[in-house]
Amino acid sequence: MPEYKAISIGKWRCTPTPAGEHILGYWGPHNFVSAGWMYEQRRGKGWLKWMSLTPMESESHMPHIAAAHGTVVVAGLGMGFVLHNILCKPEVTRVIVLEKDKDVVKLFKRTIRRDHWLPALDKFELRLGDALAFRPDFHVDFLYVDLWPCLGEECACSITQTLQCNIQAASVGFWGQEFDFVSWLMAKNLPEPLEDHCTQHHYRAFCEDVGWPLVEQDNPSYPKLALAAVLFQGSIGVGRTDEGVLMAAIAFSASPPRLSCRRSQL
Ligand SMILES: C[S@@+](CC[C@H](N)C(=O)[O-])C[C@H]1O[C@@H](n2cnc3c(N)ncnc32)[C@H](O)[C@@H]1O
Repeated sequence: MPEYKAISIGKWRCTPTPAGEHILGYWGPHNFVSAGWMYEQRRGKGWLKWMSLTPMESESHMPHIAAAHGTVVVAGLGMGFVLHNILCKPEVTRVIVLEKDKDVVKLFKRTIRRDHWLPALDKFELRLGDALAFRPDFHVDFLYVDLWPCLGEECACSITQTLQCNIQAASVGFWGQEFDFVSWLMAKNLPEPLEDHCTQHHYRAFCEDVGWPLVEQDNPSYPKLALAAVLFQGSIGVGRTDEGVLMAAIAFSASPPRLSCRRSQL
């Protein structure tokens, strides 16, 4: 978890978030969470939370950080949380980050504590511009896509499709892909209960259907974890947080609704 500084640039600011008890993560609840940081953008008279170091955010990136190796392309700089963790891995040799918002880049450069990033920063290259136009002339081992503000965003698959079509990475991950897998499974109208179908076989079929070499295909626990995340986040998104804790606990014996939720709600 990198440290940041409190700074404002244009419509953006980086501010601290307090420590708290009973905070909800991506895969489950936490009794205690340390203080962290967030990036917010001015919207009218208020501030819209875009990115943060909350457990929901950090846990949701975990399968992708774990999968990173060799030459990595990360679409979406944000606070650089994913970047920081990927750079820390010795098996990662080069990281190219695609970011289109100049102010996000400025804020990132001004708010990070460089001493927390060196010497791994030498492996990092920033390409300013639209990620969808990026066409590398080198082999990419892993592509991670996180360009949207909501879990379960409809555009996630089409954006990942465009990027992977241009980049042809050997392995791929995209933020909130658990929602897309569970939605794909639900659309099959298989007999209840749904968790019986959250299997490696079905996850691999999903990967084949979308046509990308997605992360976690060799992890037999991942499909059920994906369902747990969807149930849990769905219950937070509709404001039933106590129920969310319960639903996470019974994730393996309940059927999820198709739900999505904004980062700003978490
Ligand atoms: C949610 S943030 C990424 C958070 C990041 N994973 C982290 O670890 O902090 C999404 C980022 O993608 C950027 N973005 C959105 N659409 C883009 C595009 N088409 N090309 C490049 N960057 C884009 C946004 O400016 C934003 O910085």
